[in-house]
Amino acid sequence: MMRTNDIRHAFLSYFKNHDHAIVDSGPLVPHNDSTLLFTNSGMVQFKNIFTGQETTSIPRATTAQKCVRAGGKHNDLENVGHTARHHTFFEMLGNFSFGDYFKERAIDLAWNLITKEFGLDKNRLLVTIYHDDEDAAKFWRKVAGLDDKRIIRIATSDNFWSMGETGPCGPCSEIFYDHGEAIAGGPPGSKDADGDRFIEIWNLVFMQYEQRDAKTRVDLPRPSIDTGMGLERIAAILQGKHDNYDIDLMQHLIEAVADASATKAGGDHRIAQRVIADHLRSACFLLADGVLPSNEGRGYVLRRIMRRAMRHAHQMGCKQPLLYQLVPTLITQMGGHYTELKRGEALMREVLKLEEERFKETLGRGLAILNETMQQGSKSGDTKSKTKQTLDGSIAFKLYDTYGFPLDLTEDVLRQHGWQVDVAGFETAMAQQKQAARKAWAGSGDKDLTQEMQFLHNLAGNFAATEFLGYETLEASGQILVLVKNGGEVKTLTAAKGEKAEKKTQAYLIANQTPFYAESGGQEGDHGVLTDEAAKLLARITNTFKISGVFFHVIEMEAGAEIKIGDSVRFVVDSQRRQLLRCNHSATHLLHAALRQHLGTHVTQKGSLVAEGRLRFDFSHPKAVTSDQLEAIEETVNKRLRLNSQVTTRIMTEKAAVAEGALALFGEKYGDEVRVVAMGGNADSDDSSNSGNAGNSGEKKIWSVELCGGTHVRRTGEIGVFKIIGESAVASGVRRIEGVTEGVALGWINKRLAIVNEASGVLKTTAENFGERLAALVEERRTATQTIAGLRQKLALAGGTGRAGTGRAGTGAGTAGGRADGGAGTGTTGGGADGKPKMLGNVAFKYCWLADTPAKELKGIADQLSAGMGQEGYGANVAVVVSQIDDTPSLVVKATKAAVESGVNAGDLIKTANGALGSKGGGRADMAQAGGGDPDKIDEAVAAMEAKVKEVGGR
Ligand code: SER
Repeated sequence: MMRTNDIRHAFLSYFKNHDHAIVDSGPLVPHNDSTLLFTNSGMVQFKNIFTGQETTSIPRATTAQKCVRAGGKHNDLENVGHTARHHTFFEMLGNFSFGDYFKERAIDLAWNLITKEFGLDKNRLLVTIYHDDEDAAKFWRKVAGLDDKRIIRIATSDNFWSMGETGPCGPCSEIFYDHGEAIAGGPPGSKDADGDRFIEIWNLVFMQYEQRDAKTRVDLPRPSIDTGMGLERIAAILQGKHDNYDIDLMQHLIEAVADASATKAGGDHRIAQRVIADHLRSACFLLADGVLPSNEGRGYVLRRIMRRAMRHAHQMGCKQPLLYQLVPTLITQMGGHYTELKRGEALMREVLKLEEERFKETLGRGLAILNETMQQGSKSGDTKSKTKQTLDGSIAFKLYDTYGFPLDLTEDVLRQHGWQVDVAGFETAMAQQKQAARKAWAGSGDKDLTQEMQFLHNLAGNFAATEFLGYETLEASGQILVLVKNGGEVKTLTAAKGEKAEKKTQAYLIANQTPFYAESGGQEGDHGVLTDEAAKLLARITNTFKISGVFFHVIEMEAGAEIKIGDSVRFVVDSQRRQLLRCNHSATHLLHAALRQHLGTHVTQKGSLVAEGRLRFDFSHPKAVTSDQLEAIEETVNKRLRLNSQVTTRIMTEKAAVAEGALALFGEKYGDEVRVVAMGGNADSDDSSNSGNAGNSGEKKIWSVELCGGTHVRRTGEIGVFKIIGESAVASGVRRIEGVTEGVALGWINKRLAIVNEASGVLKTTAENFGERLAALVEERRTATQTIAGLRQKLALAGGTGRAGTGRAGTGAGTAGGRADGGAGTGTTGGGADGKPKMLGNVAFKYCWLADTPAKELKGIADQLSAGMGQEGYGANVAVVVSQIDDTPSLVVKATKAAVESGVNAGDLIKTANGALGSKGGGRADMAQAGGGDPDKIDEAVAAMEAKVKEVGGR
């Protein structure tokens, strides 16, 4: 028997042997189409290639595409479990020609595969064609030898395939398999066509048009081929089964469900087991592709799928969560081809378990309410046996709101009992609640918000949270929901050529989904561009922020461009900037862990900024971090980078995360769940059994664990290098470290090296000897300064230096000795003309003027001058030393003890000088100093001091 995995492999190999490139399945969340809920066919990832908007170097491709049909246009949710061939998740096998081969070759390849390679009985096969597609009829006759009875012409859209209202399209031809008379049903086109006897196995679409809008259909640049074969359907045929759920892969899952629920496979709980097997596949593949359960959008579809399965598990009597136990079987069955399942194992198990544990708390009570209501309704005698009984919309809403019952789950339960829900009543109750919530919010309005922000807050209250795709992709389509300009909503934004108006006015854009990260958790918002589907630039996005989960893109329109509400546009994140943000964010986590390792566990985060050019981390620590500590911290982080271990993201309850040692309780929350980012381990954590604690080796695999909604590198090695560039105080007990990573760190280091190289050049030495040479120079300078100071003192004692070119020498009356008159370099002041001090009463007086002598040297000189006078027998003396550097005078007055006893006070003398000079200063009776004032008044100040000494000392 060919196993399902073998059939997938055989299909891909067959087309590979016919020159098709095997392309991986596209993600379930389509990044190139904002209108599509989930990828629902193989051609979705190639949509833009068919229309010519994108080019490819591959003319032919083949894929096994994972598809989900559980919402939107294609919704098989209701039928799952009840029919032989409906799934919410299935695999579509396809071959594609991008303008290469067309109808005849497509028919030839398909017929050959199913009849020769797969060996299907030709007599059980028939085909449909679009009613006027004569070419298709001709080729089927020629290639397959089918007679006209088995080429059925269908006039309806059943045989004209289109992606949606717009997009590539064309007539199609479907291949049907006849499961035999034992099964009810008629051939396609007949009145019994809906039966299960004739099953469509393969749809060949002859893509040749593009529907631009309702009225315009144009030819594609090159006619192309898109085919889709349901893997489960062909597997059923090849395994001799009629029911898709009887194929090996589904049976393994059903057996796992039976085992875990202690029920018999295929027994009374047959439907429940089938539903769970199907929904497990959808849920796990969606989780692995980054969708998380939530109350909106795709996340809500996922939650609905999960809860439907959980309800069945509950009704089978399972007391413990069931779904997460099935993950290993799913991985065994499908993880070989879809490796993302293995990578996402821990996340899938955790989310499934958590969701089921929480839903279990309310599920039983909700079901009891439903049963009671149905019993009462039946008892009330209202047994209109033919018409369905209807559940009040408000009860359905209560079940939804209080017990977490999605509407379709309630409908599902009721259906078995012949009941239905008053859906309109449910919707009214929902609308009323939303309105009440908005009012409550409006009442709590933050008065400090600017008018514009207030407007944006109000606006955000009217919209569902924007779907963030940016963990998975940097480019995605989104549909414009709102445009805001000049504080009001607008329908269109334009910037006419040559007009810069839109550039000056900031405009805001809200879309249903975006890959742009909105500023939060310290990480700055993404920048990038907005283009149309053909990559034409429409606007620049200069920032992204969010209010209540609604993302606002700050945009500047390009001249000549126009956008309007409802447009589907492409959001392209500036990937270089995002990569630096990722590096800086991951490095911040590693820095945090390193700080705790080196400084202690008292270190907690007080603030953080993750910018493009640097990171800033504020943390509690009582004193400055020493340079040795900084060096060790930096090295610890760099060691973690060199380990290049995987960065993992998981979702868990806040309690569980904290129990595992997660740090920094801030960040994104998903209901009661938190996102946990772990990195820096010693061992590679590709092994998904690793859940953050000790691995098999007993060595801690994960080193840093934080709650965080930010974006991170995939492996720590991407950060390259981490460099601390600053450590400072922010507030008492809070320190700040600034750092850089990757290219910025190298740039920073290189800039500093250039400075050292330049300085080494100036010192005529090498960078290696730079420090030594500089130290020697500093020492030389210190000695030289000392020598100069000594020489100055000597000079002062010998009579001071001359004041250059003042022409104000000898201030005449009273200024003893006068200063050298205008000549440079020679003697200045002394006391008397003979070099002896000037006697002012009983007190000897000497005054010395020095050019360019630092103020701090003056005191020493005054001491020497005074001591010199003392040696000459003038015990009571006053020494005044004045210096001038540029236009700033400094002066020191020294009075000996004897002079003070005679009534002299150096402090008073300085005050006197201040009066004349305009300088500032003071001091004690024996020593005082001042600085500043008008240098032209120095002589006057000295004269005033002499007069003062004479006045008191002469007594
Ligand atoms: N796009 C077509 C389908 O979904 C064939 O792949 O049926």
